[in-house]
Amino acid sequence: MSSQLPNCITTPGWWQLMNWIADPIEFQKKYSRKYGDIFTIQLSGIGSSVIIAHPNAIQELFSQDSKFDIGRANELAEPLIGKNSLMMMDGSRHRRERKLLMPAFHGEKIQVYAQQIIDITENIAGKWQVGDSFIVRSTMQKVSLEIILQVVFGLSQGKRYEQLKPLLTDWLDMTDSPLRSSMLFLKFLQKDWGNWTPWGKMRHRQRQVYDLLQAEIEERRINLETTDNTGNDVLSLMMAVRDEDGQAMTDAELTDELLTILFAGHETTATTLSWAFYQIYQNPDVLEKLQLELKGLGENPNPLEIAKLPYLSAVCQETLRMYPVLPVLFPRIALSPIKIGGIEFDAETTFMPSVYLVHYREDLYPNPQQFQPQRFLERQYSSCEYFPFGGGSRRCLGYTLAQLEMKLVIATVISKYQLASLDEQPVKIQRRGFTLAPTGGVNMVMKGKR
Ligand code: HEM
Repeated sequence: MSSQLPNCITTPGWWQLMNWIADPIEFQKKYSRKYGDIFTIQLSGIGSSVIIAHPNAIQELFSQDSKFDIGRANELAEPLIGKNSLMMMDGSRHRRERKLLMPAFHGEKIQVYAQQIIDITENIAGKWQVGDSFIVRSTMQKVSLEIILQVVFGLSQGKRYEQLKPLLTDWLDMTDSPLRSSMLFLKFLQKDWGNWTPWGKMRHRQRQVYDLLQAEIEERRINLETTDNTGNDVLSLMMAVRDEDGQAMTDAELTDELLTILFAGHETTATTLSWAFYQIYQNPDVLEKLQLELKGLGENPNPLEIAKLPYLSAVCQETLRMYPVLPVLFPRIALSPIKIGGIEFDAETTFMPSVYLVHYREDLYPNPQQFQPQRFLERQYSSCEYFPFGGGSRRCLGYTLAQLEMKLVIATVISKYQLASLDEQPVKIQRRGFTLAPTGGVNMVMKGKR
């Protein structure tokens, strides 16, 4: 006998889908108030999913992740990043691909990227004039795109770089509002009827991006064969790596992984940085503490010393707590019947761990609506109480790079510039594609240099 899903929301599936697209945070808050930590949503055309907001149940999901398909559940992202993306893989294929990609994002490689991050930030912020107002999210998007292009793609100049930069920005901006994001969820909008339909335009830009990346890979390969010149960027490392059977990554894997990294790593970091600046400049005491801590390192500090600063780390952690970039983690589909949170579920049940609901639990984070970096200095949170980068074997591939980027960009900006907030009303969270971002993008003015 098949078991019933718990606490099913009773409104029609199409209505739930519309609300999920329009405001996934309000949606989750409303039903967690009604049903508690475990409830079932039903999204038309997508199916039923059980939202999980209890740390113990989340621990059960993370610790048994070989019992779930996660790549298969990410099918909504396939049109954007391709079927050879890490995000779409499961089982041994996923393990192999992660093993191949991991070294480029961890260990000593990260140290090479640190100085590049600072230089890129100085270059972009250095163009600000006193009195200039700007949208922080757009500026941070420039910073994080440049970081991906240089650090990951190994491109900092030349024709291909000049072509890719605006193309990537336009491509990602196509889902910059809840309405424009709906084409990712509504399959009937995913029709390629040429350049005048949103989906057609999206696919056209994507093809251009693919062609440019393919050309870059081919040119690199020739360079590698003729000059033995391996670069320090992620793409070069991906091209050089071999699995246990001596196999290299295929071109299809390389292009899809580059798009995955761009897609997963660019908007997420830009958005988190905008929230960090928003909160830092709304809370003068936080800014003061950060500046004091940085001053303690003296002139021209080593980037890796900056990355270790406790208060700066706590500010980044609190930002990621309050503003998780994804409304829920990747869905997890059970491969066989399983007990989660004391409830028996059938095989093929889909679970979505809610980062947002857990990060706003009063029992873990008193006054959750308040920005209090101090809480991370006073208490250690476990991996199922705090998980902005997800968990288990699917934990974000770029979490070390993302945290380094956040810390170095914040430190560079606040130690050199005086900024002030221009937002008079509290900035709200709104959907942007699959992610959540600040409405209006956070507005600031440059008041002077320090
Ligand atoms: C503040 C920035 C970022 C946040 C908050 C973030 C968050 C996440 C989350 C929540 C997941 C899903 C994990 C799960 O379901 O358990 C994820 C997966 C992933 N992230 Fe990030 N991410 C960030 C930056 C980056 C960066 C910079 C990169 C790459 C350079 C990246 C690459 C990936 C990839 C490839 C995956 C898929 C992993 C897999 O399926 O095995 N992310 N990220």
